[in-house]
Amino acid sequence: MNNLSDYIYDLCQNSIHAEAKTITLTISFYNVLTVIIQDDGSGMDQDTLNKVKNFEYTSNKHRSVGLGLSMIYDLVKQTEGSFELKSKKDHGTTLILTFNHNHIDFPKFGNIGSVISDLYMYEALEQLKIYIKNGQFYKFDLKQILQKQKTLSIKKYIEENINQKLRNIGVDV
Ligand SMILES: Nc1ncnc2c1ncn2[C@@H]1O[C@H](COP(=O)(O)OP(=O)(O)OP(=O)(O)O)[C@@H](O)[C@H]1O
Ligand SMILES: [Mg+2]
Repeated sequence: MNNLSDYIYDLCQNSIHAEAKTITLTISFYNVLTVIIQDDGSGMDQDTLNKVKNFEYTSNKHRSVGLGLSMIYDLVKQTEGSFELKSKKDHGTTLILTFNHNHIDFPKFGNIGSVISDLYMYEALEQLKIYIKNGQFYKFDLKQILQKQKTLSIKKYIEENINQKLRNIGVDV
């Protein structure tokens, strides 16, 4: 994992694996950087959620433990942030992360536009909502665009558009 976008991509894969139809990604910059990934996928029962929070469970048949959540937890701890995972069986999952993005250990932001445009390519995903906040507020609802034929030129357009909005608010993407 080289930058924050790689982590976000990996965490959104959890939502895809949980067969989410809608993913909402919120990125907001105030004193701290907050990243919220919310999905309406399969969710977890309390017992599974407890194990996942202790990094003792994976539904991946090719691994004995999962890596994604424990890696982001390490980054949160390194940068004096916070980690909250909420889930309800059959109702979905929400991950709320905060980071001190001025911390010396905080990675580069990376190509978040590419992460979002990659998600757009998933056929099973019906809705993708992106909120970017930093004084200015941007909202992208990719529902309409997700229903159209998926092409590389639209993918590229989404990537550029989102990265430009992030640059507008001073993010180094
Ligand atoms: N959004 C989610 N919806 C439902 N279950 C989830 C979600 N996120 C995580 N989980 C559960 O928590 C487990 C651990 O997640 P984690 O990302 O740490 O590892 P992984 O996805 O199993 O493997 P890796 O990320 O290393 O490929 C998952 O296998 C899954 O069972
Ligand atoms: Mg994972």
